[in-house]
Amino acid sequence: MSVLKSLFSYAGKHKYLTMLSLVLSFASALLILMPFIWIWKVIEVLLKVYPDYSQAGAAVSYGWYAFGSAVLGILVYVGSLMCSHLVAFRIASNMRKEAMHHVVELPLGYFSTEGSGKLRKIIDESAASTETYLAHQLPDMVQLMTTVCAVFICLFVFDWKFGVACLVPLILALSNMFKMIGKGLEQSMKEYMDALESMSNEAVEYVRGILVVKTFQQTVYSFERFYKSIKKYEKFALGYTDQMRMPMTLFTTFINGIFIFLIGAMMLLISHGFQVDGMLPDFMFYVIFSPIIAVTTNKIMFASENTMMAQDAVNRIEGILNQKPFEYPDSAKRLDGYDIEFDHVSFTYPGSDVEVLHDIDLKIKNGSTVAFVGKSGGGKSTLVSLIPRFYDVTKGSIRIGGKDVRDIREEELMNKVAIVFQNSHLLKKSLYENVKMGFDVTDAEVNEAVHKAQCDDIVEKFDGGLQTKIGSKGVYLSGGETQRMTLARAIVKNSPILLLDEATAYADSDNEALMQKAILEVSKNKTTIMIAHRLSTIVNVDCIYVVEEGRITESGNHAELLARGGIYAKMWEQYSQSIDWKVGEGR
Ligand SMILES: Nc1ncnc2c1ncn2[C@@H]1O[C@H](COP(=O)(O)OP(=O)(O)OP(=O)(O)O)[C@@H](O)[C@H]1O
Ligand SMILES: [Mg+2]
Repeated sequence: MSVLKSLFSYAGKHKYLTMLSLVLSFASALLILMPFIWIWKVIEVLLKVYPDYSQAGAAVSYGWYAFGSAVLGILVYVGSLMCSHLVAFRIASNMRKEAMHHVVELPLGYFSTEGSGKLRKIIDESAASTETYLAHQLPDMVQLMTTVCAVFICLFVFDWKFGVACLVPLILALSNMFKMIGKGLEQSMKEYMDALESMSNEAVEYVRGILVVKTFQQTVYSFERFYKSIKKYEKFALGYTDQMRMPMTLFTTFINGIFIFLIGAMMLLISHGFQVDGMLPDFMFYVIFSPIIAVTTNKIMFASENTMMAQDAVNRIEGILNQKPFEYPDSAKRLDGYDIEFDHVSFTYPGSDVEVLHDIDLKIKNGSTVAFVGKSGGGKSTLVSLIPRFYDVTKGSIRIGGKDVRDIREEELMNKVAIVFQNSHLLKKSLYENVKMGFDVTDAEVNEAVHKAQCDDIVEKFDGGLQTKIGSKGVYLSGGETQRMTLARAIVKNSPILLLDEATAYADSDNEALMQKAILEVSKNKTTIMIAHRLSTIVNVDCIYVVEEGRITESGNHAELLARGGIYAKMWEQYSQSIDWKVGEGR
């Protein structure tokens, strides 16, 4: 079975334990069936000596045999489960590890595209569902097959007439079972899992967005995608249940009603002149035995469902594992120059068909500071995210120091580029650790970076100083404070390329000057790219690029662009007016 093959690829040297578990499971199945045969013997003896039970000594021994084989069967089964659990845990943990290792290798852009709820669900729950499958269902399946074969043999060994009486309801039940687990089930199972996955993903998004929903007094219906995912699940679940209702009812009726067929057969035989005495032990045997048939068949049904669930889990994990990390040529290069060149770059986000950047062609000199400005949604952040290779360009190429970013070693690229994101994130650690981030720097250097990034007031606010833990009681940083802390982090990293996405977005007018000073300090001797909405922060940069609908429409320094009287000049005029208004309000 392909699902087992895929699962065992994660088992490592524990494979042999599975074999042992399966052999033990086979043995336990035989042992657990033995008591039925001994009990049949007991009944036979009792009926033979009736009414003089003093002759029934053999029955007692048979009784003990029955007891002994049942106990032994259970012990062997426990042994089998112990082995299977060991392998199952190992496989599930290897799957999780492998998926996690793989995920960190993936292009950074993957994480902004895939919801984190979805990733968590796949890695965690899929691995867990294979665990149940391997630990319980696999040994149970071997036990099942053994039991099925044994039951089939027993059905005809004792008395074929009763055997046939058992077989009729069994076949009727099975035909209904196949209606349920037939071809459609695999598809239904996938749909079911998809619906669950999307519901879980949307639930995470919903919880994240709950503040917005509440403050804008929206109802749950405003979270349309979440609502739709629940509706979709409901529709699927109801439809599926409806479809299964009839076959499931018939299946359960037939499988649990075998004894009625046995009684019918008995009456039929008696009416045809067969002797009750001769048939009684066999009849009793079948009556005791028929629940086994029911239990076994029930198990078969769920086993096939579980195999499909495990298959689905494996497919999902492999869906992640099949996501290609970026490839690096063997001769992956180190960087020595830090000028940045966009060579006719076009870009479309993976999975989307709208091109976001069109034929961007520009050169940023080593050590210079440039800025991208333009309307929201124009593609500034996208443009900048291509430099540290969050995504690969669709057309053209990006070169740093003359080397294509696709040829540069990942660690090298990450080392040489420091980024302050538009939506920065601090880890739930101390301020100190958030700035240091494992870089090889002294405490004095951390302090200096904190000072340079104008974070002194943040540190002074808390009693614990730099050791204050973010997220601990009452410790929260505002958006502007968070950005200044990430700027300190970028200073510590001291990379030759610095990317600042709206680093001054939250700064108030007092802070703006400080931030500007900090940025000026940080960007010395570095190739710096800033994205800015506050045009006052960029008047001194070497070159300003205006980005509009994915194209660079103007470029030049502040004075040149003003003189040109184009879009930038207009933006500047509007910006100055807004500043005047603010100043005017203050008077
Ligand atoms: N992960 C993504 N998948 C698909 N499209 C995206 C993704 N991220 C952004 N986009 C699209 O790319 C376009 C450019 O977005 P981008 O974030 O680069 O704009 P921006 O200029 O930085 O805007 P802002 O000034 O508001 O930050 C937008 O139309 C946006 O819808
Ligand atoms: Mg942006």
